Formats: sequence, C-alpha cells, structure tokens
Amino acid sequence: MSVPDTSHIFDLAVEVLKENDRGTYTVPTKGLYPFQWNWDSCFTALGQAHFDEDRAWTEMETLFEHQWPDGMVPHIVFHVYDDGYFPGPDVWKSGRPTPTSGITQPPIAGFALRQLFERSKDRAAAERRARALLPKIEKWFAWFYANRDPQGEGLVAILHPWEAGRDNSIDWDEAFERVPTEGIAPYTRRDTQHADPAHRPTKAQYDRYLWLVEHFRSLGWDNTKLHDASPFQVVDPGFNAILVRGCADLASVAEALGETEMARRNRDRASKGLTALEQLWSESHGQYLCLDRTTGKLIDSASIGGLTTVFAAIPAERAATIGQVIARQAETLRFIVASHDPADPRFESKRYWRGPVWLVVNYLIFDGLRAAGETEIADHVLRSSLDLIDQSGFAEYYDPVTGEACGGGRFTWTAAMVLEFLAVAERS
Ligand code: DGY
Repeated sequence: MSVPDTSHIFDLAVEVLKENDRGTYTVPTKGLYPFQWNWDSCFTALGQAHFDEDRAWTEMETLFEHQWPDGMVPHIVFHVYDDGYFPGPDVWKSGRPTPTSGITQPPIAGFALRQLFERSKDRAAAERRARALLPKIEKWFAWFYANRDPQGEGLVAILHPWEAGRDNSIDWDEAFERVPTEGIAPYTRRDTQHADPAHRPTKAQYDRYLWLVEHFRSLGWDNTKLHDASPFQVVDPGFNAILVRGCADLASVAEALGETEMARRNRDRASKGLTALEQLWSESHGQYLCLDRTTGKLIDSASIGGLTTVFAAIPAERAATIGQVIARQAETLRFIVASHDPADPRFESKRYWRGPVWLVVNYLIFDGLRAAGETEIADHVLRSSLDLIDQSGFAEYYDPVTGEACGGGRFTWTAAMVLEFLAVAERS
C-alpha cells in the first residue's frame, strides 16, 4: 500500500502519548481536557500497547476502578482538581468517592480488551488482567441494555449528546429543540478559552447540555429513572454498533478464558443488537440513521453515526454501500471521512462534529471496511488519516476541505490512532 513517508511519525506520536500521561491515566490534551475521559482512554490504551503493554492495561484498569455500583462507567473521572474545565465535579455532584460525571460514553472497552488480550506478549499477565476486567465490562454492557433499552428492543439510547461523544452533531439538532433551557444556573464556559470558539459548540447548545445535566442531577443520577425522564432519547447507530462489536469481542475473550456462559450471553446480545440495527437502515441515504425514540422517527441526517456501523458485523451489502458513500465523499473532499455529509447545507467543515474529520472515527470505519473486504476504500481512509498527520500534526480534529488542524492540539487519541494505522500500514 502506498502511504506517506511516516518514519518520523511513530516517535512523535509516542511523545504526545507520554506528554499527556499522568501515571495511571492519560488526559486527552492538556488545558482543554485535564481529566480522564472514558472512550479516549480505551483508544489511548490501544496506542500505548505499541510501546508499553503494562501501561496500556493500567489505562483501562484505572477507568474501571471508577465504575458505578450499578455498572455504568462514567464519561469523565475527575482525578485532580482543575478549574480550567467546565462543567466540573461541583456541577455533576455524582457523589462518587473520586468525583465523576453522571453520564457515559461509547463502549470501546470491549473491543480494546480483545485487542490488548490478543496482542499482549506477556501471556500470563494478559490472562490475569483480562480475567479481572471481563466481569466489569460485562456489567457495563448489561447496564446499557437494562437502563437504556427498557423495552428490550436491542437498541440503546443516549440521553445526552456528550454520551455519543459527537457533542454537537447535526443528528441531535431536531431532538435538541425539545430540551428546555429555562432555569439553568449561570455559568462560564472554559472550552472557548482553550480552543477557537468557531470550532466549538454554540451557546444555545451549551445551555441545553447544562439543562440535561441539571435535570438528571435533580433525579439523583438514578439510572432506573433517567431514560424515561429524559426529553432527549436518541438511538445512535454508531454507538450501538460499538456496543454490539464490544459484546462480540468480549464474548471472544471470555471464550478463550473458558468463561463459556459469559461468552454465550454476550454473543446473544450482539446478535440481537445487529438484527435490531436493521430498523435504522435508510435506502435513500445508503446508510443507517439515528432514531428519535421520543417520536419513533428516523432522523434525516447523514453523519458518521450511520457510517461507523461498519465497525459491527453488519450485512456485507450494507458495508459495500457505506463504502460507496465514503468513496463519493472522497470525490469532493481532500480528506475523509467527514463527520457529516458534505452535500448537506448544514455541513460546517471546522465546527467540531458537524463536518470535521476525526481520526478515531476513521479508525473504526477503516477497521470495519477492511473486515468486510472493502479494502480499496479502507486503504483510502488510512492514507487520508496519515496525510492529515503529515500536514497538520496531532490535532483534535481536521477540516476535511483544507486539512487544517482544529480544536485542541497534541491530542492523545489522535496519536494513539496513528500508532494503530502505522502498524497496519507496515503489515500491508
Ligand atoms: C466537552 O466538554 O467538550 C466534552 O466533549 C464533554 O465530554
């Protein structure tokens, strides 16, 4: 495969990961995100495994030390005091010994566990550490289906855009209109002091993010109540695909460790989730769409939420169609994969999740396309990702039109994904 000259990139990526390492957890980037974030950490562990296996396991172990008694794994763990970030622990009031946020994030942990387990050279340590993580990750997955899929449909809902990780995606615009803003406590944003406000969510969106936090807090963060009490309940196909893949990967590790019953339970979850995902397919868009659970309607918004589904074992013809959608994007954009359909008038090339390219998403899409045998477009995604690094360094995300670096700089998960992409490119 032809890739740009990347010999210097490996060391630079390791440097970024080490710079953001706080010993037992890694911050996404200093300043903007000074704590441990859930899915960031799981991606980080994948990168760390290329130069320090032991440290990679620790990254995930630290995250799971802060799992809630009900099984939820929070999206932020506030290990230290830092008033450079808002909303901090005093807003969330989670009541946890080490403060955390009260919502969750995409469950990359199942996938990351399998990767660490299968790649680790120290087999005895890998078995011991995987065995300890298995029940915790399973508890989180069971939590999802119990609390975010109360009707047992096989699809889980997010209750806050931050849970999807795609904070200001166009996917949420319509459903977000139903979230009120009255009565929220006055606040000062910190994110816009660290990053260009034109690259960040708007004030109207922040007001709603905060309203939801205050609403859930007023319900005591009781997860048995939050789903039905939330005016925002969206089924994101990408999020569900990550969960489905996580269940399948967890099952595979469980099987290898002789945990047959656990393996069966998680294979069942994965297969039910995959079947249910089909309800979200849109023939006219050639991809899956989000479902607004409060209205029961699909959301007319073509984003990476629907393209990331290739990360799960969706039917081959669906993966091929998604590959074609991405290939069409590549005809009009210098860099892929844009987080939103560039032909949509709502597309914004620099604003966070409304258009920019994110390397973690590229990685999930790449992995899925490859597994589905869509190698040509998969390799295009890989090349585009490394070209961005070459041109603009380890940014949080990139403008797909110009390749300009956006958001925070020296970003951990971007560096981690570069190590993953380099390893694949080397093997090819
Ligand atoms: C933020 O604060 O921007 C985060 O994305 C929320 O997790």
